[in-house]
Amino acid sequence: MSSALPLRPPLKIALLGCGVVGTEVVRLLDEQAADLAARVGAPLELVGIAVRRKDKRREGVPPELLTTDATGLVTRPDVDIVIEVIGGIEPARGLLLDAMKSGKSVVTANKALLAEDGATLFGAAREHGVDIYYEASVAGAIPLLRPLRESLVGDHVHRVMGIVNGTTNYILDKMDTSGSGFSEALEQAQALGYAEADPTADVEGFDAAAKAAILAQLAFHTRVTAADVHREGIADVTSADIASARAMGCVVKLLAICQRVPSDDGRNGRGVSVRVHPVMIPRTHPLANVREAYNAVFVEAQSAGSLMFYGAGAGGAPTASAVLGDLVAVARNRVHGTRGPAESTYADLPVLPMADTVTRYHVSLDVADRSGVLARVADVFADHGVSIQAVRQEGHGEEAQLVIVTHRAPDGALSATVETLRDKEIVREVASVMRVEGDE
Ligand code: NDP
Ligand code: HSE
Repeated sequence: MSSALPLRPPLKIALLGCGVVGTEVVRLLDEQAADLAARVGAPLELVGIAVRRKDKRREGVPPELLTTDATGLVTRPDVDIVIEVIGGIEPARGLLLDAMKSGKSVVTANKALLAEDGATLFGAAREHGVDIYYEASVAGAIPLLRPLRESLVGDHVHRVMGIVNGTTNYILDKMDTSGSGFSEALEQAQALGYAEADPTADVEGFDAAAKAAILAQLAFHTRVTAADVHREGIADVTSADIASARAMGCVVKLLAICQRVPSDDGRNGRGVSVRVHPVMIPRTHPLANVREAYNAVFVEAQSAGSLMFYGAGAGGAPTASAVLGDLVAVARNRVHGTRGPAESTYADLPVLPMADTVTRYHVSLDVADRSGVLARVADVFADHGVSIQAVRQEGHGEEAQLVIVTHRAPDGALSATVETLRDKEIVREVASVMRVEGDE
């Protein structure tokens, strides 16, 4: 005898967008219909799919469900839940707001919109008493936002640090393992479909910065937008940087780092630091072994200790898995007449300027190889209050390459040190400057 409870009437689902992710959502909704119904307690019925081009051929997508009238679809009185996988700011924002205003709960994968104007969306969810879930917006298939929002909500998160962009991880991995230069590795990423024809959002760190804002907001219960995130991409990472990292037993990764910065008396009041930039991390660090286009995120919390989340950060099916997980959660809430957790930004912490963030630096200099040069270079660091941890020198005839690794110091002091070095006659070139993380 089956233990399944009798099903309630179907919940009606509207899908906005049917591209890489949307197509997989349609497939999974169809293939897993019976299981999803049993898990929710009601069948999930897809009643419409909004697209830009209705006549485009789409494998496995019922053409009779397609419409170009997205507004009409989200405001249909019989629709219960709206899934948005269009991307970008408009029309996605307007459609989600219309949907919530009409009493629909929403699921979205739209990191760009959440990081730019999450406040408006969360405000609308609160005002209209509906759910907004967005697990797929950060790190694709990896369950990361729900652990932060629910499982770790009783703990105190200090830091979230990880690889949240698969394209840049693929490029840096290729540069490290096959000796390719940046342009060659980018071409390989494009040929494999990781990087888009216009790779700016990935390569310049915009995609990772949006994800960092979402992670920091959830981890620290404070408002963070993409504009608050210090962002540097990987376009200037050279083969020399990669080789220099290798010589130090490190690897170069683009990390998103969200950190709670305590006040000077050690209390947790001062603010948060949220940044995306290339770093050197020791090859022994677990993030160093995240290869190809995979994502991985470290979460450090007071009682839980260190947790690591790893998996596929992009792609149609992995991202659709996260969307379906949210859909089931939202649908269950509908069936039981309840709601998921609302936005939590009560802490109201300032986002600190990058200059106040404490980091370590790796600086590689081409200098004149004569007596007193090392001492004068060391003086520049000392003058800015930056303590040197290690020095390595290699002579090349009249010149020498000097690699200096610092102890932790405010980023502002470190960058002022580098600026002063650039003006010194003894320094022929500042060949590479990169922050060092992961071995404190
Ligand atoms: P695609 O570009 O593949 O698909 C976008 C879809 O939206 C297309 O079906 C397009 O229609 C439709 N669309 C665009 N404009 C409109 C409009 N004005 N009205 C109605 N429909 C419109 O995007 P993805 O599937 O790759 O990404 C979707 C979302 O998921 C984005 O927010 C993205 O950041 C996020 N995401 C994507 C991941 C991935 O690996 N792809 C990973 C994690 C998140 P048409 O088909 O007719 O052109
Ligand atoms: N372009 C992103 C990446 C996937 O390369 O990780 C979507 O978030």
